[in-house]
Amino acid sequence: MPVITCIEDLRRIYERRTPRMFYDYVETGSWTEQTFRENTCDFQDIYLRQRVAVDMSGRTTASTMIGEEVAMPVALAPVGLTGMQCADGEIKAARAAEKFGVPFTLSTMSICSIEDVAAHTSRPFWMQVYTLKDSDFMQRLFDRAREAKCSAAMITVDLQVLGQRHKDLKNGLSAPPKLTAKSVADMMTKVQWGLGMLGTKRRFFGNIVGHAKGVTDPSSLSSWTAEAFDEALDWDRIREFRKMWDGKLIIKGIMDPRDAREALNVGADAIIVSNHGGRQLDGALSAIRALPAILDAVGDKIEVHLDSGIRSGQDVLKALAMGARGTYIGRAFVYGLGAMGEEGVTKALEVIHKELDVSMALCGRQDVKTLDRDILMIPKGFEGDWT
Ligand code: GLV
Repeated sequence: MPVITCIEDLRRIYERRTPRMFYDYVETGSWTEQTFRENTCDFQDIYLRQRVAVDMSGRTTASTMIGEEVAMPVALAPVGLTGMQCADGEIKAARAAEKFGVPFTLSTMSICSIEDVAAHTSRPFWMQVYTLKDSDFMQRLFDRAREAKCSAAMITVDLQVLGQRHKDLKNGLSAPPKLTAKSVADMMTKVQWGLGMLGTKRRFFGNIVGHAKGVTDPSSLSSWTAEAFDEALDWDRIREFRKMWDGKLIIKGIMDPRDAREALNVGADAIIVSNHGGRQLDGALSAIRALPAILDAVGDKIEVHLDSGIRSGQDVLKALAMGARGTYIGRAFVYGLGAMGEEGVTKALEVIHKELDVSMALCGRQDVKTLDRDILMIPKGFEGDWT
């Protein structure tokens, strides 16, 4: 086994071990992928301020997100089809998160169902909710999350329609994969993946099949999003969901201060500044550039979290120092999962934790909870001066 020292090491192994269709699903953005690229490179425009001869002992990365204790403020983001990256993927990722002491978020588009993940974990996880037209399905989804003892619901508000990802269309993405000459030839070279998949029954969208009505091809993510998702979603409808779920609520997909204020009015406990990892509106600002204006608008009234673009502990440090209370990794943990299953997710968390801890120390700080902009050198005009 090669020595793994960074997230990129995991990505390379993941690329070799996973069928192309599922690798491409993760490693893509919509249309030209401008936003997908800028989400990561914009972090590099922010510099860290090195300090020396400051007591760096007794450091801690422990914090809280929506009142829950976390070993570091880095949760696992909801990622659709995680159970296609590796057999039983959601269960493995949730177990790694639980052992590490960070939250796991289960996607509505997961392969393992809510009940299945609950049966194989003991720390309550967070349930990500897509907003479908079918009100009965929505009510049941919240009820199922409550019965599974999920400690928060996370409503994603930036996917009423699906941003086009060219590779998914070209690959004919589906779960389980359709057997074509091309997909079979590819899967035959992914032995470890194939053996895992043969050994599990979990190969369908576990939260959907048998639960959602009016979906002609439940194996195709693009067809069921087109058919079932509610294009008419508005803040009144989100208020109705707020009534269906009386627990902690996180609203994911906020990029504009006006929407941040709406989320606050709905009674959310936290918002996530996110452009869906560059998978939805191509041409949107990167999440890290969008963060300051949103913090100015609502940062003192609600917890503001960030996802999209985080691939290292340095990125986490920058987001926290800028004012985010929590962050999420999606691709970074999936690389680990596809590379080495549960152990790989643990490895991804360890890598990010070490990067965060050591970089924080070298900035002369001991506690993630007290980070501030003083450790950052942010270029003037970083967030833009738009007309
Ligand atoms: C779903 O959330 C996706 O981005 O594919």
